[in-house]
Amino acid sequence: MPNIVIVGAQWGDEGKGKVIDIFAAKSDYIVRYQGGNNAGHTVVVGDDSFILHLIPSGILHKGKVCVIGNGVVIDPKALLEEIEMLAKENVSVEGRLFVSEEAHVIFPYHRTLDELKEQKKKKIGTTKRGIGPCYADKVARSGIRVIDLLEEDTLRDKLQANLDEKNPILSRIYGTDEIAFEALYNEYLEYGRRMRKYVCNTKRLLNDAIRKRKRILFEGAQGTLLDVDYGTYPFVTSSNSTAGGASTGTGVGPTKIDKIVGVAKAYTTRVGEGPFPTEFGPDLMEKIRQKGKEFGATTGRPRRCGWFDAVVVGHSIMVNGIDEIVVTKLDVLDDLDSIKICKGYRYNGKIYTDFPSSIKVLTGCEPVYEELPGWREDTTKVTSYDRLPKNAKNYLKKIQSILKTKIALISVGSDRNQTFSKGA
Ligand code: IMP
Repeated sequence: MPNIVIVGAQWGDEGKGKVIDIFAAKSDYIVRYQGGNNAGHTVVVGDDSFILHLIPSGILHKGKVCVIGNGVVIDPKALLEEIEMLAKENVSVEGRLFVSEEAHVIFPYHRTLDELKEQKKKKIGTTKRGIGPCYADKVARSGIRVIDLLEEDTLRDKLQANLDEKNPILSRIYGTDEIAFEALYNEYLEYGRRMRKYVCNTKRLLNDAIRKRKRILFEGAQGTLLDVDYGTYPFVTSSNSTAGGASTGTGVGPTKIDKIVGVAKAYTTRVGEGPFPTEFGPDLMEKIRQKGKEFGATTGRPRRCGWFDAVVVGHSIMVNGIDEIVVTKLDVLDDLDSIKICKGYRYNGKIYTDFPSSIKVLTGCEPVYEELPGWREDTTKVTSYDRLPKNAKNYLKKIQSILKTKIALISVGSDRNQTFSKGA
């Protein structure tokens, strides 16, 4: 199973950073295929904790090659700052970080437009990193790509055309300042000069690596329910965070991908607006938020928390073709008397077991729960499945039987070592 995609099976923040870190040890190349610095992948190594927003988490493993694919949107300032942050921690990216020529570039007007749109009453709750507006330009065919930063004339033409279009929107529709051309042009030319050594044809790099039987790990960001096609649209991000994005976002064909691993928390969280059927009431919300340290790695926003939703994860298993799942943060449920699993939604007398497309149904539905006894024991020091409390095993078995998908790994803490396999 050389080439593996890791995807989030909920609304992001499933603990993919840690899972990717574990799989990275057995991979040669680690590749980001979508999203941008809206992501925040936390990896704990001994006493150190790293949050990576753009560079694949695999960079923390010496000698691994890391690739930012064409499907990613890149804020060059954020990328260069992340490279500097790693250098300060004695992690060198030289010769092992490669950035696609075709990835689209985030400009300040993308961030400004993202922020201005979020001031409206009906907001999405974005990270305000300019992700949506940058992807919108990509699809509208007016975007600026990494390769364009390396060609002075191309950048001049494209940036001028973009400012001609964006400035009237900024001033006339939103009443804010227009953006001056020259300073921005020079700033981005300079970013291009500094990024040049990392930029290459990453499609060729990855396909050559596959031919040489190197093992590729595709690092999904966000989660399935934030996917622009399969998520709770419009409360989604603007890319395909599902497994299909691994092909379109890297130039590696689907036939070259061997396995899809889905990561799901033992409960559910989401950041930002949008429907969330199994969301907790205030008391349990606060308890789990504090215990699970449920605050955004990118924005610091408190995450909304709720019960495990098998309708959500079942939907993810289907649209990603997930082969096995990793259940993270089981320990966060250690102190509960009883635990609920959502098996369906009731709306207007009808039971939904397929994830509904209608935001109206998702907002108005009532979850159908199965309730299981809690285990009320500390699981953070457990090192094997056999040693888990009986009720914790029953909880996992129930999830596995509802989802009809193998649980491969279980995680009971943020450290690399607090992970074990479920076994047969
Ligand atoms: P955007 O990606 O900044 O446009 O935000 C769109 C939606 O995706 C918002 O609900 C964000 O909170 C959510 N989102 C984006 N990135 C992440 C992430 O890495 N984890 C969790 N939610 C995210």
